Amino acid sequence: EKAGFDHFMLKEIHEQPKAYRDTMMSRITEDGKSVELKELGMTAEFIKSIRKVHIVACGTAYHAGLVGKTVIESLVRIPVETDVASEYRYRSPIITPDTLVIVVSQSGETADTLAALREAQRNGARVLAITNVVGSSIAREADHVLITWAGLEIAVASTKAYTSQLVAFYLFGLHLAGTIGAQEASFIEEVITSMKQLPEQVESILEQSAVLKQVAESISHHKHLFFIGRGVDYAVAQEGSLKLKEISYIHSEAYAAGELKHGTLALIEDGIPVIALVTQEELYEKTLSNIKEVKARGAHVLGIANAGTEEEVAKSVDELFAIPKTLPLLSPALSVVPLQLISYYASLALEHDVDKPRNLAKSVTVE
Ligand code: M6R
Repeated sequence: EKAGFDHFMLKEIHEQPKAYRDTMMSRITEDGKSVELKELGMTAEFIKSIRKVHIVACGTAYHAGLVGKTVIESLVRIPVETDVASEYRYRSPIITPDTLVIVVSQSGETADTLAALREAQRNGARVLAITNVVGSSIAREADHVLITWAGLEIAVASTKAYTSQLVAFYLFGLHLAGTIGAQEASFIEEVITSMKQLPEQVESILEQSAVLKQVAESISHHKHLFFIGRGVDYAVAQEGSLKLKEISYIHSEAYAAGELKHGTLALIEDGIPVIALVTQEELYEKTLSNIKEVKARGAHVLGIANAGTEEEVAKSVDELFAIPKTLPLLSPALSVVPLQLISYYASLALEHDVDKPRNLAKSVTVE
């Protein structure tokens, strides 16, 4: 049932191109110009009435929600807040009838996320669920449902569910933008065209697994490491750090690159690995200067950059992994893949139980 792979996690990482196609293709019109989400049952009138969005989720789904915030804010220019569900439900969030609450959950059974959904509904908001399980508790109780067609995810460490959640946010953001008229039709078409290239682009990253295995093996000798980035790169850094902690038990922290000098830089010492995401062209010079800060303290830096800028970035880092070129908003759908593989191979090198890490369960149905 692992289809020739040693672990479910590796199989699921390799299923991402298919998960992308399955999640996106039926929702893109044949002419490739717009996104249609009739299944949501959300009227244009309701969409036009949304004044703010709250995204609520746990763990990896929360990290997808961090990217979702940037996607919706930049495509639609509506304010979005992203919270972890266990915080949201107890912080008396300001929920009004013109708030759309989006809960994100692979399993659709996470207790805190389900409680947040109920809290939102009690306050008069409508809830959209992005979930991978048709008929799950969250799918049943939400007012609107957008299914991620990632297929069954067995490994505790979520991979294809996360990337499918990103696709769901791209689709929903484009759907909102198209309905409200927040973006030029030509831009929407450009995003869709780039989205359609993602499956093949992921395949080309998977073909370079051997390099990432080597990186992971050298990382596995360390006790601590850092992930840094700005904008959506910071969101992906957080996901990369969680994945590594979860299955390799190596301590890591994700930091907004510009925040390092406000304290964390004190922890950078000779030889410490730093994984720097540098995919956002408008922030690229800034991140490069943060890379210089850690390099000056002896860090060993792996840069993850877009094809096209990789030669420039290579000058500032010790090692470089290039991801195929895409739009800045879509880069998380590619840049997370090398991080998933690094975590996988680090766990493998340390001989941990990759699919069933200690102390964790696939579905967290208790608070
Ligand atoms: O099923 P959910 O998406 O609601 O699960 C949320 C988290 O428990 C989950 O993403 C967890 O963080 C993963 N094990 C991370 O890989």
